Amino acid sequence: MSFPTHRPRRLRQSPAVRRLMRETHLAPSQLVLPLFVREGISEPREISSMPGVRQHTLDSLRAAAVAAAEVGVGGLMLFGVPVVRDAVGSGADDPRGILNVATEAVVAEVGDALVVQTDLCLDEFTDHGHCGVLAADGTVDNDASLERYAAMALAQARAGSALLGLSGMMDGQVAAVRRALDDEGFTDTLLLAYSAKYAGAFYGPFREAVDSQLQGDRRTYQMDPANAREGVKEALLDVAEGADVVMVKPALPYLDVLADVRASVDVPVWAYQVSGEYSMIEAAAANGWIDRRGAVLESLLGIRRAGADTILTYWAAEAAAWLRE
Ligand code: PBG
Repeated sequence: MSFPTHRPRRLRQSPAVRRLMRETHLAPSQLVLPLFVREGISEPREISSMPGVRQHTLDSLRAAAVAAAEVGVGGLMLFGVPVVRDAVGSGADDPRGILNVATEAVVAEVGDALVVQTDLCLDEFTDHGHCGVLAADGTVDNDASLERYAAMALAQARAGSALLGLSGMMDGQVAAVRRALDDEGFTDTLLLAYSAKYAGAFYGPFREAVDSQLQGDRRTYQMDPANAREGVKEALLDVAEGADVVMVKPALPYLDVLADVRASVDVPVWAYQVSGEYSMIEAAAANGWIDRRGAVLESLLGIRRAGADTILTYWAAEAAAWLRE
């Protein structure tokens, strides 16, 4: 008599069997690399809270874009850091604004090899650091911000961005941006809605990456970390407004939301492994407390397993290179 009857270990007995039985796969094309470009610097600057990530010059940005394309990364998400900021974020829709200039340069360099994308958010361009314009009482004015987003979207599309990442968390922004683009003939510009974007502690290092001036917090527009159903609602609204892709952000603390959203929509679902998630693993690895490569790949696999088709991650180029070994 052979005992036990069920032997799940049979599926794990050798590398060849495990490879054949694997449910979830990671590929370079499923990774998107966020890149920061800063106006008015002649040398790239390290971001101390994100070891290995830099604020690029236009030249070093182009080089990083080429390197990412060479290892097969699926896309780049560009963020601009302007020198001058004002109340309405004028640099955002100025064709000579840093993000739009950088987009043109990167599209010219690698636009055929991967999908060049831009962060559609006012916070890097406003002097108060909020993702919208302020009303007289200091609150973020939703509908006035939509007009700014429509203008910003047109500037980004004209600069050649193929996919706009709507990360402002304003109500109705997907519809407003879609309409503005379609009216100008940009019917093929893809819209990625940061649908379930939570207000939390994991964006800390990003603030350094973009020299953020934020006063206060984003809790009147980004979501309460306690709410999962509301994340699904936001994703469904964005799909109804015309989003081509929806996203959950951050990733690891919100895998339940990711799985719920995946089950609720029929568009691609992406996840953003944000700055704080990056810095935690980097810090632990730098202390010798964790195996860096193992932890990075396991975190990416976990995000894929929970339902993400594609992941924005600061490790995109490095992980892509590992995956090709
Ligand atoms: C908005 C934006 C933010 C991030 C991506 N887009 C900042 C915020 O909403 O507070 C955070 C990304 C990260 O932490 O890696 N422009």
